[in-house]
Amino acid sequence: MDEARFHDELVKLTQIGIALSSQHDLDALLEMIVREARHFTDADAGSLYLREGESLRFAVSQNDSLRARLGAEGERALFSEFSLPIGEGSIAGYVAATKENINIPDAYAIPPEAPYSFGRDFDQKNDYRTRSVLCVPMLDHRDRVLGVLQLINARSQGRIAPFPVEREALVRSLASQAAVAVNNARLTAEIKRVHLDTIYRLSVAAEYKDKDTAQHIRRVSHYSAALARAIGWNEEQAELLLYASPMHDVGKIGIPDAILLKPGRLTDAERSTMQEHASIGARILSGSDSPVLRMSEVVAASHHEKWDGSGYPLGLKSETIPQAGRIVAVADVFDALSSRRVYKEAMGIEQTVAILVKDAGSHFDPACVEAFCGILGQIDEIRIRYRDEG
Ligand SMILES: [Fe+2]
Ligand SMILES: [Fe+2]
Repeated sequence: MDEARFHDELVKLTQIGIALSSQHDLDALLEMIVREARHFTDADAGSLYLREGESLRFAVSQNDSLRARLGAEGERALFSEFSLPIGEGSIAGYVAATKENINIPDAYAIPPEAPYSFGRDFDQKNDYRTRSVLCVPMLDHRDRVLGVLQLINARSQGRIAPFPVEREALVRSLASQAAVAVNNARLTAEIKRVHLDTIYRLSVAAEYKDKDTAQHIRRVSHYSAALARAIGWNEEQAELLLYASPMHDVGKIGIPDAILLKPGRLTDAERSTMQEHASIGARILSGSDSPVLRMSEVVAASHHEKWDGSGYPLGLKSETIPQAGRIVAVADVFDALSSRRVYKEAMGIEQTVAILVKDAGSHFDPACVEAFCGILGQIDEIRIRYRDEG
C-alpha cells in the first residue's frame, strides 16, 4: 500500500473510531460497526456476534445482495436468533477461541482437516453464495474477546474477490475500537438504569409519607415521556423528561405530616401549605447544572399550573407554563384518577379520559390532551406494565 493511501485509511479509521465512541445506544452501535467495517472493505455482507459466557450470540446481519432482492423488510426477516459455542467448529467460534483472524478466499473450499467449517444452510435457504470471508475477534483493552466480526464477499471491480491481506490489520483494529465502544455503551446503559432506579427510590421516599405509590411514580414518568414524544419532542428530550418527571412531588418532604396525611378535607390555610410542595421541590432541585435536574426543577415548579391561569404557585397561563410542566400535569392527573388509592376506587380509563378532555383549555393544555388521546394504546400498556401490586 502506498503511503498516501495508508494515511487516508488511518484517517478514516480514526474517524470511524470517533463516530463509534459517540454512539451509546448498543443496538444502533452494533449496526454501525458492521456497516463501517463493510464500507472499509467493500464487503457485500457482514455479521456480528457478541460473546455471552462460552457462546456467541448472533446480533447483527447485513447483506446487500439479499436486501436488493428482498427489500429491507425481507433482509431483516432472514435474521434469526441463534448462538454458537466458542471453540472449534464454526469460523466465528474458532476466531473467538483463538483470537486469530481467518481470511479465506472461498468458504466452500475449506479443507476438511481444518478446525472449523462453513455451514451452508443459510446460503442454500436464501440462494446466496458465500465466497470470501474475513473474520476477526473484537478484543477489548484487556485483550478479552467481546465478540466477533465477520465480513463476507469482498467486492473488487464488480466481482467477488478475496479480502486483501493488508486489510486484516485495519479491520482487526476497527473491531477492537468497536469492542471498546460496546463496553462503553453497556456501561452507559447500566449507569442510566441505576440512575433511574435511584431517582425512583428517592422520589418514593418523598412520596412515601403521601398516599402515592412507587408505581405511581414509574407510571407518571413513562406517561410523560410517551406524551412528550407524541407532541414532537426528540428522543433525547423525551428521555430527559423520563428521568426528570418522577421528582415532581419531592417537595412533599417539606410538608408537615399532619397536613399531608390528614384524612378529611383541608382547610384553606392547610391547602395553601400543601401547595407549597411545588416551590419547595423546585428549591430542593435548583442550582444544578445537570440537564435532568434542571428539567426536574422546572417540572416540580410548574406541574400544578393550569392552562387558564388558576393554578399554583405562580398562576402562570397557557404557553408561559413550561411545556414539561404541562405534560406532567396531564400524566399526573390521569394517573391519580385512574388508580386506586386507600381512600378511593380507580376510575375507568374512558371516564378518566373524558375528564381530561373536559378540562382541556381550563386545567390542561389542549394540545397535550389531544396528543394524549392519540396514544391511549401506549398509555394503557404502561398502565398495565407498572400496575400497583396487591
Ligand atoms: Fe404535586
Ligand atoms: Fe404525583
